[in-house]
Amino acid sequence: MKTQILYPGDEKLAAEILLRGGIVALPTETVYGLGADGLNENAVKKIFVAKGRPSDNPLILHIAEPEDILDLVSEVPKKAQILIDNFWPGALTVILPRTDLVPNVVSAGLETVAVRCPSNEVMRKVIKYLKRPIAAPSANISGKPSPTKFSHVLNDLDGKVDAIFDGGDCEFGLESTVISFDGEVPRILRPGKVTKEQIESLIGEVIIDPAVTGKVAKDQKVLSPGMKYKHYAPRAKVIVIKSDSGKYIDYVNKNSDENTLSLCFDEDKAKIKGMCISYGKESDDEEQARLFFDSLRKIDKMNEVKLVFARCPRKDGIGLAIYNRLIRSAGFEVIEL
Ligand code: TXA
Ligand code: MG
Repeated sequence: MKTQILYPGDEKLAAEILLRGGIVALPTETVYGLGADGLNENAVKKIFVAKGRPSDNPLILHIAEPEDILDLVSEVPKKAQILIDNFWPGALTVILPRTDLVPNVVSAGLETVAVRCPSNEVMRKVIKYLKRPIAAPSANISGKPSPTKFSHVLNDLDGKVDAIFDGGDCEFGLESTVISFDGEVPRILRPGKVTKEQIESLIGEVIIDPAVTGKVAKDQKVLSPGMKYKHYAPRAKVIVIKSDSGKYIDYVNKNSDENTLSLCFDEDKAKIKGMCISYGKESDDEEQARLFFDSLRKIDKMNEVKLVFARCPRKDGIGLAIYNRLIRSAGFEVIEL
């Protein structure tokens, strides 16, 4: 398939391709998404094929205005509405009981649907021209790091999709916070830019699903199907090192060889003897979030790297979102010093 490249100004054209049943990779403020007309079952099925995504992993429907959610869900509980009022348009996805309008293939047979109103202007314009919700998972080949740059999408999907929209680098760099209102207490299924602390200050107690920080057994039932798949895994083996800068530097300098790379913070860099890539300043979790997936992709291009020692981020605020992706990339292997 010949993949067309689109640029800002081509939003109407993108919507036309979607309306004809095509699939188009589009920028959002979190990561790039691979979009299809969310009400067209055949178009949505093409997303699963292009990504190599398991069909039991449901998709997020993206809407242009917060009130558009009313067509897609049967009720919006008060706490969900408070979060919508505070964080939309933005990096928050809510999971609520779905209406009949939502095709089965979007919610992978579940009774619920995931909905997000993104803030990225290109994405919003395309949804407005289409006049329908856009179903979109992250625009990577399943299992690879989510794409935060146009070049990442081109690398994964050129020749597999109808078009890729070059919208520059994603502002935040990690996927949205996913929160479910299925149970009595709201539950964070995936941490992101909108933090647990921010959410609790508005609606009180929320649960962090155990799958956010822990390994899910193969046969265990999970609330978010995406949690059970291998994710973000580079070719090299990754081990997370939980420690302060000094101990981390000692450890990697003692245990590295010519095939080892340190995925560290800016402050560690000067004292590390072997190969290293920094994913930001230790104190700047927004910078870490923005650079994290790009760092994993850079490592994947370095054939000589067989082992990665990754410095562990903080586990609160946005740090929890980075930690959630990092431990998946490491297959949950952590060394505490
Ligand atoms: O920031 C984002 O959320 C990006 C951009 C493109 O919007 N999208 C994204 O989609 O990350 P995806 O498909 O890669 O991740 C969506 C996650 C998956 O883990 C999926 O299992 C979960 O949300 N999910 C979707 N619908 C669900 C539902 N009805 N119940 C539980 N989990 C659901
Ligand atoms: Mg994804």
